[in-house]
Amino acid sequence: MIDLPDPPLSDGKILLREWRVEDVPALVRACADPLVQRYTSVRVPYTPEDARTLIAAGRNATTLPLAVVDAETGELLGATGLHAIDRGRARTEIGYWTAPWARRRGVALGALRLLAAWAMADAPGLALRRVELYAEPENLPSQQAAEAAGFIRGELVRGGIALRGQRRDVVRYVLERATTP
Ligand SMILES: CC(C)(COP(=O)(O)OP(=O)(O)OC[C@H]1O[C@@H](n2cnc3c(N)ncnc32)[C@H](O)[C@@H]1OP(=O)(O)O)[C@@H](O)C(=O)NCCC(=O)NCCS
Repeated sequence: MIDLPDPPLSDGKILLREWRVEDVPALVRACADPLVQRYTSVRVPYTPEDARTLIAAGRNATTLPLAVVDAETGELLGATGLHAIDRGRARTEIGYWTAPWARRRGVALGALRLLAAWAMADAPGLALRRVELYAEPENLPSQQAAEAAGFIRGELVRGGIALRGQRRDVVRYVLERATTP
Protein backbone atom coordinates (compact mmCIF):
# COMPACT_ATOMS: atom_id res chain seq x y z
CA MET A 1 0.00 0.00 0.00
CA ILE A 2 1.42 3.37 -0.97
CA ASP A 3 1.64 5.85 1.91
CA LEU A 4 -0.34 9.08 1.82
CA PRO A 5 1.61 12.33 1.60
CA ASP A 6 2.00 13.44 5.21
CA PRO A 7 1.34 16.27 5.79
CA PRO A 8 -1.09 16.58 2.85
CA LEU A 9 0.39 18.27 -0.22
CA SER A 10 -0.63 21.91 -0.51
CA ASP A 11 0.66 25.07 -2.17
CA GLY A 12 -1.62 27.29 -0.07
CA LYS A 13 -4.29 27.46 -2.81
CA ILE A 14 -5.07 23.79 -3.35
CA LEU A 15 -4.75 20.76 -1.11
CA LEU A 16 -4.56 17.10 -2.14
CA ARG A 17 -6.27 14.59 0.13
CA GLU A 18 -7.89 11.17 0.10
CA TRP A 19 -11.43 10.95 -1.25
CA ARG A 20 -14.25 11.04 1.31
CA VAL A 21 -17.88 9.93 1.20
CA GLU A 22 -18.92 13.61 1.47
CA ASP A 23 -17.33 14.16 -1.99
CA VAL A 24 -19.93 11.98 -3.76
CA PRO A 25 -22.32 14.78 -4.90
CA ALA A 26 -19.55 17.07 -6.21
CA LEU A 27 -17.71 14.13 -7.79
CA VAL A 28 -20.85 13.09 -9.67
CA ARG A 29 -21.45 16.68 -10.82
CA ALA A 30 -17.86 17.02 -12.07
CA CYS A 31 -17.94 13.68 -13.88
CA ALA A 32 -21.07 14.73 -15.77
CA ASP A 33 -18.86 17.21 -17.64
CA PRO A 34 -18.41 16.36 -21.34
CA LEU A 35 -14.64 16.96 -21.29
CA VAL A 36 -14.08 14.73 -18.26
CA GLN A 37 -16.18 12.09 -20.00
CA ARG A 38 -14.34 12.52 -23.30
CA TYR A 39 -10.77 12.46 -22.04
CA THR A 40 -10.74 10.31 -18.90
CA SER A 41 -11.75 6.76 -18.10
CA VAL A 42 -14.75 7.63 -15.91
CA ARG A 43 -17.86 5.58 -16.55
CA VAL A 44 -20.56 7.25 -18.62
CA PRO A 45 -23.05 8.02 -17.17
CA TYR A 46 -21.23 8.44 -13.84
CA THR A 47 -23.46 7.54 -10.93
CA PRO A 48 -23.26 8.06 -7.15
CA GLU A 49 -22.56 4.31 -6.98
CA ASP A 50 -19.49 4.79 -9.24
CA ALA A 51 -18.31 7.57 -6.94
CA ARG A 52 -18.77 5.42 -3.83
CA THR A 53 -16.86 2.57 -5.49
CA LEU A 54 -13.89 4.85 -6.25
CA ILE A 55 -13.90 6.18 -2.70
CA ALA A 56 -14.19 2.72 -1.12
CA ALA A 57 -11.40 1.29 -3.32
CA GLY A 58 -8.95 3.98 -2.21
CA ARG A 59 -5.25 3.47 -2.68
CA ASN A 60 -3.21 0.29 -3.09
CA ALA A 61 0.37 -0.67 -3.99
CA THR A 62 0.21 0.80 -7.51
CA THR A 63 -2.49 3.47 -7.31
CA LEU A 64 -2.96 6.65 -5.28
CA PRO A 65 -6.19 8.51 -6.15
CA LEU A 66 -6.55 11.96 -4.58
CA ALA A 67 -9.14 14.72 -4.43
CA VAL A 68 -7.97 18.26 -5.17
CA VAL A 69 -9.74 20.74 -2.91
CA ASP A 70 -9.62 24.45 -2.19
CA ALA A 71 -7.08 24.83 0.64
CA GLU A 72 -9.27 27.43 2.38
CA THR A 73 -12.86 26.38 1.77
CA GLY A 74 -12.45 22.63 1.16
CA GLU A 75 -14.54 22.85 -2.04
CA LEU A 76 -13.85 20.03 -4.49
CA LEU A 77 -11.90 21.41 -7.46
CA GLY A 78 -10.62 18.32 -9.24
CA ALA A 79 -8.86 15.01 -9.11
CA THR A 80 -5.34 13.77 -9.53
CA GLY A 81 -3.57 10.54 -8.82
CA LEU A 82 -0.71 8.19 -9.46
CA HIS A 83 -1.40 4.93 -11.22
CA ALA A 84 0.65 2.08 -12.67
CA ILE A 85 3.28 2.84 -10.03
CA ASP A 86 6.25 0.60 -10.87
CA ARG A 87 8.84 0.57 -8.09
CA GLY A 88 11.12 -1.78 -10.06
CA ARG A 89 11.39 0.64 -12.95
CA ALA A 90 11.08 3.68 -10.64
CA ARG A 91 8.26 5.13 -12.71
CA THR A 92 4.61 6.06 -12.43
CA GLU A 93 1.84 7.59 -14.49
CA ILE A 94 -0.12 10.61 -13.30
CA GLY A 95 -3.67 11.57 -14.18
CA TYR A 96 -5.87 14.60 -13.54
CA TRP A 97 -9.03 16.45 -14.30
CA THR A 98 -10.36 19.79 -13.07
CA ALA A 99 -14.05 20.31 -12.31
CA PRO A 100 -15.72 22.59 -14.88
CA TRP A 101 -16.36 25.20 -12.18
CA ALA A 102 -12.62 25.46 -11.31
CA ARG A 103 -10.88 25.58 -14.69
CA ARG A 104 -8.30 28.07 -15.96
CA ARG A 105 -7.01 29.05 -12.54
CA GLY A 106 -4.02 26.78 -12.12
CA VAL A 107 -5.68 23.81 -10.39
CA ALA A 108 -4.30 21.11 -12.72
CA LEU A 109 -0.93 22.80 -12.89
CA GLY A 110 -0.68 23.03 -9.10
CA ALA A 111 -1.78 19.42 -8.60
CA LEU A 112 0.67 18.13 -11.21
CA ARG A 113 3.56 20.05 -9.69
CA LEU A 114 2.83 18.97 -6.12
CA LEU A 115 2.19 15.30 -6.79
CA ALA A 116 4.99 14.73 -9.31
CA ALA A 117 7.56 16.42 -7.08
CA TRP A 118 6.43 14.36 -4.08
CA ALA A 119 6.56 11.09 -6.06
CA MET A 120 10.13 11.77 -7.10
CA ALA A 121 11.49 13.18 -3.86
CA ASP A 122 9.51 12.80 -0.68
CA ALA A 123 7.29 9.75 -1.03
CA PRO A 124 8.44 7.24 1.59
CA GLY A 125 10.06 4.23 -0.07
CA LEU A 126 9.16 5.32 -3.60
CA ALA A 127 11.99 7.53 -4.92
CA LEU A 128 10.67 7.37 -8.45
CA ARG A 129 12.80 8.71 -11.28
CA ARG A 130 10.17 9.22 -13.93
CA VAL A 131 6.57 10.43 -14.05
CA GLU A 132 4.67 9.97 -17.31
CA LEU A 133 1.34 11.19 -18.57
CA TYR A 134 -0.59 10.57 -21.75
CA ALA A 135 -2.70 13.20 -23.50
CA GLU A 136 -4.66 12.84 -26.71
CA PRO A 137 -3.25 14.95 -29.56
CA GLU A 138 -6.34 17.19 -29.68
CA ASN A 139 -6.44 17.71 -25.89
CA LEU A 140 -4.52 20.97 -26.00
CA PRO A 141 -5.53 22.16 -22.48
CA SER A 142 -4.07 18.98 -21.00
CA GLN A 143 -0.87 19.32 -23.01
CA GLN A 144 -0.60 22.95 -21.96
CA ALA A 145 -0.97 22.00 -18.30
CA ALA A 146 1.64 19.24 -18.66
CA GLU A 147 4.13 21.57 -20.32
CA ALA A 148 3.52 24.31 -17.77
CA ALA A 149 4.38 21.74 -15.07
CA GLY A 150 7.69 20.99 -16.78
CA PHE A 151 6.81 17.74 -18.55
CA ILE A 152 8.68 17.15 -21.80
CA ARG A 153 6.68 16.17 -24.87
CA GLY A 154 7.63 12.77 -26.22
CA GLU A 155 6.42 10.56 -29.02
CA LEU A 156 2.95 9.75 -30.31
CA VAL A 157 1.96 6.33 -29.00
CA ARG A 158 -0.48 4.72 -31.43
CA GLY A 159 -3.39 3.16 -29.55
CA GLY A 160 -1.57 3.93 -26.31
CA ILE A 161 -4.65 4.03 -24.10
CA ALA A 162 -8.04 2.39 -24.06
CA LEU A 163 -11.06 4.51 -23.15
CA ARG A 164 -14.34 2.67 -22.81
CA GLY A 165 -13.03 -0.16 -24.96
CA GLN A 166 -11.65 2.04 -27.74
CA ARG A 167 -7.89 2.36 -28.39
CA ARG A 168 -6.74 5.96 -28.72
CA ASP A 169 -3.51 7.59 -29.88
CA VAL A 170 -1.79 9.62 -27.17
CA VAL A 171 1.23 11.86 -26.80
CA ARG A 172 3.62 10.75 -24.06
CA TYR A 173 4.85 13.42 -21.65
CA VAL A 174 7.71 12.72 -19.27
CA LEU A 175 9.13 14.40 -16.20
CA GLU A 176 12.41 12.98 -14.93
CA ARG A 177 14.08 13.52 -11.62
CA ALA A 178 17.07 15.78 -11.91
CA THR A 179 20.16 13.68 -11.31
CA THR A 180 22.71 15.01 -8.87
CA PRO A 181 26.23 15.04 -10.31
C1 LIG B 1 -6.94 19.71 -19.01
C2 LIG B 1 -7.49 20.26 -17.69
C3 LIG B 1 -7.17 19.25 -16.59
C4 LIG B 1 -6.79 21.60 -17.39
O1 LIG B 1 -7.17 21.97 -16.07
P1 LIG B 1 -7.10 23.48 -15.52
O2 LIG B 1 -7.10 23.37 -14.03
O3 LIG B 1 -8.14 24.29 -16.17
O4 LIG B 1 -5.67 23.94 -16.05
P2 LIG B 1 -4.76 25.10 -15.40
O5 LIG B 1 -5.62 26.25 -15.03
O6 LIG B 1 -3.90 24.50 -14.34
O7 LIG B 1 -3.88 25.52 -16.64
C5 LIG B 1 -2.59 25.00 -16.86
C6 LIG B 1 -2.07 25.54 -18.15
O8 LIG B 1 -2.88 25.09 -19.22
C7 LIG B 1 -3.47 26.20 -19.92
N1 LIG B 1 -4.85 25.87 -20.22
C8 LIG B 1 -5.77 25.33 -19.37
N2 LIG B 1 -6.94 25.18 -20.02
C9 LIG B 1 -6.75 25.64 -21.28
C10 LIG B 1 -7.60 25.77 -22.41
N3 LIG B 1 -8.90 25.38 -22.38
N4 LIG B 1 -7.06 26.28 -23.53
C11 LIG B 1 -5.78 26.67 -23.59
N5 LIG B 1 -4.92 26.58 -22.54
C12 LIG B 1 -5.40 26.08 -21.41
C13 LIG B 1 -3.38 27.36 -18.96
O9 LIG B 1 -3.32 28.58 -19.65
C14 LIG B 1 -2.08 27.06 -18.23
O10 LIG B 1 -0.96 27.42 -19.01
P3 LIG B 1 0.05 28.54 -18.52
O11 LIG B 1 0.43 28.19 -17.11
O12 LIG B 1 1.15 28.42 -19.51
O13 LIG B 1 -0.79 29.77 -18.61
C15 LIG B 1 -9.04 20.50 -17.76
O14 LIG B 1 -9.34 21.24 -18.91
C16 LIG B 1 -9.86 19.21 -17.75
O15 LIG B 1 -10.24 18.73 -16.69
N6 LIG B 1 -10.13 18.65 -18.96
C17 LIG B 1 -10.92 17.41 -19.05
C18 LIG B 1 -10.19 16.20 -18.46
C19 LIG B 1 -8.81 16.00 -19.07
O16 LIG B 1 -8.58 16.30 -20.22
N7 LIG B 1 -7.87 15.47 -18.25
C20 LIG B 1 -6.52 15.19 -18.71
C21 LIG B 1 -6.49 13.91 -19.46
S1 LIG B 1 -4.85 13.63 -20.18
